[in-house]
Amino acid sequence: MPITKENSNIHPSGDKRFQMLSATMKRHQYAPDALIEVLHQAQELFSYLEDDLLLYIAHSLKLPPSSVYGVATFYNFFSLKPKGVHTCVVCMGTACYVKGSTNLLTSLEQQYQLQAGKTTFDNQLSLLTARCLGACGIAPAVVVDGSIEGHQTAESVIHRVEESLHHGS
Ligand code: FES
Repeated sequence: MPITKENSNIHPSGDKRFQMLSATMKRHQYAPDALIEVLHQAQELFSYLEDDLLLYIAHSLKLPPSSVYGVATFYNFFSLKPKGVHTCVVCMGTACYVKGSTNLLTSLEQQYQLQAGKTTFDNQLSLLTARCLGACGIAPAVVVDGSIEGHQTAESVIHRVEESLHHGS
């Protein structure tokens, strides 16, 4: 889709979290001063700051990517892309919480001997949590290697992560 004024802030992936972030930037009238607040929200939504996300923010706020990276790496409350080859983000937002996301997280922690926010010793898997993935309708939701999976159970989420670990997707 060609980038026009109307859709320039819609991320081509269709991931709703970008829309939520875009709404925040709009509320701040795309003021570069809002960068820290925008990064905070981005981290809450995505759990960590990926290159693609930082570039999207830089583009939207009309800031050079170097300044956005500068701020994101300066403050230690921001975490950049985790080290693991694969990532699993468990949503701990209200809708997911009431549908049992704690159970998902505990099962993953036990299965991989891993605490949330950490990466396995072999660098294969990072386990993360997020406040709301913007997919409350399919709670409890997780994102495994960038793809959102809803209505998860302890068994299905482990099955999904195993698939990623062994088939690389
Ligand atoms: S609370 Fe989990 S997707 Fe919104």
